[in-house]
Amino acid sequence: MSKKIKKIAVLTSGGDSPGMNAAVRSVVRTCAYHNIECLGVYRGYEGLIDSDFEPMNARSVRDIINRGGTILKSARSKRFMTPEGRKVAHDNLVREGVDAMVLIGGDGTFTGGLVFNREYDFPVMGIPGTIDNDIAGTDFTLGYDTALNTAVEAIDKIRDTASSHNRLFFIEVMGRDVGHIALNAGIGAGAEQIMIPEESIGIERLLESLERSRKSGKLSSIVIVAEGDKTGKNVFELKDYIDDLDQGYDVRVMVLGHMQRGGSPTCFDRVLASRMGVKAVESLMEGKSNFMVGTVHDKMTLCPIDEALKGESKINKELIRVSEIMTT
Ligand code: F6P
Repeated sequence: MSKKIKKIAVLTSGGDSPGMNAAVRSVVRTCAYHNIECLGVYRGYEGLIDSDFEPMNARSVRDIINRGGTILKSARSKRFMTPEGRKVAHDNLVREGVDAMVLIGGDGTFTGGLVFNREYDFPVMGIPGTIDNDIAGTDFTLGYDTALNTAVEAIDKIRDTASSHNRLFFIEVMGRDVGHIALNAGIGAGAEQIMIPEESIGIERLLESLERSRKSGKLSSIVIVAEGDKTGKNVFELKDYIDDLDQGYDVRVMVLGHMQRGGSPTCFDRVLASRMGVKAVESLMEGKSNFMVGTVHDKMTLCPIDEALKGESKINKELIRVSEIMTT
């Protein structure tokens, strides 16, 4: 029989993502609903080590569902990677009477949580928050939908100027290891070419496709490049390479960067965050631990954290085909 949960700590860690605040709100309010105390931890695992805590109640999370970033702040903690750091964190949690933790973040956050659980048998539940959508065991991570919409809006604007000046634009979007943002935002914004780590097209094919576009009468082109693309050249180097070929392209570069991580979450992300927070707290109450909550075919699910970490979040091949057809 598992111990009754009386107090839950919640933290956000790793790269922030829109919807994290909505998830914190949901965790806090689900705790309040079930008469469980809730402790907010600032700066992720760093705050756990520094006892940077604040008791939270339903009113502490008013007016945050619409806010980007995370009111709890975020950090990537080197100290938590050491046994000494984790021991201090555990002592702090025991002193505060915390029975379980909800961890909102990406793979680094979950790896830390898993190690901590194994060392101290401390119940943890993960909520996947990253714009990259690169976590297995859930169809969507928090912030991905918002980031896609932000990227599409930015690309639309760049297209206006690209087409006014008959220019070729290389636009880099986030996605360290995966091309979900590039592929979906690229299709959504009507890009002429999309370069992703999973299916590197290489420079030769890129040039061929640009030439085909030009011959078919296109005067401007948008090429979306995922930051983790494996072509071996970043967007600036791609521009230099094409400039040196002197084939008449007027090339410009845009890196969308961290603006993709900011902004008010979409309705989709707010609802997802609300559902994930409820599922996380209620799963801990049922005595479950070491899971990540997720959504698969619109049903709330639990995936063991180690499977989420080991698994691959695969690109949808059908989208690659759709993008090829759309660029005809
Ligand atoms: O993990 C999300 C992400 O946005 C990646 O796409 C990107 O490579 C990385 O974070 C950037 O991290 P930082 O904020 O540390 O520069």
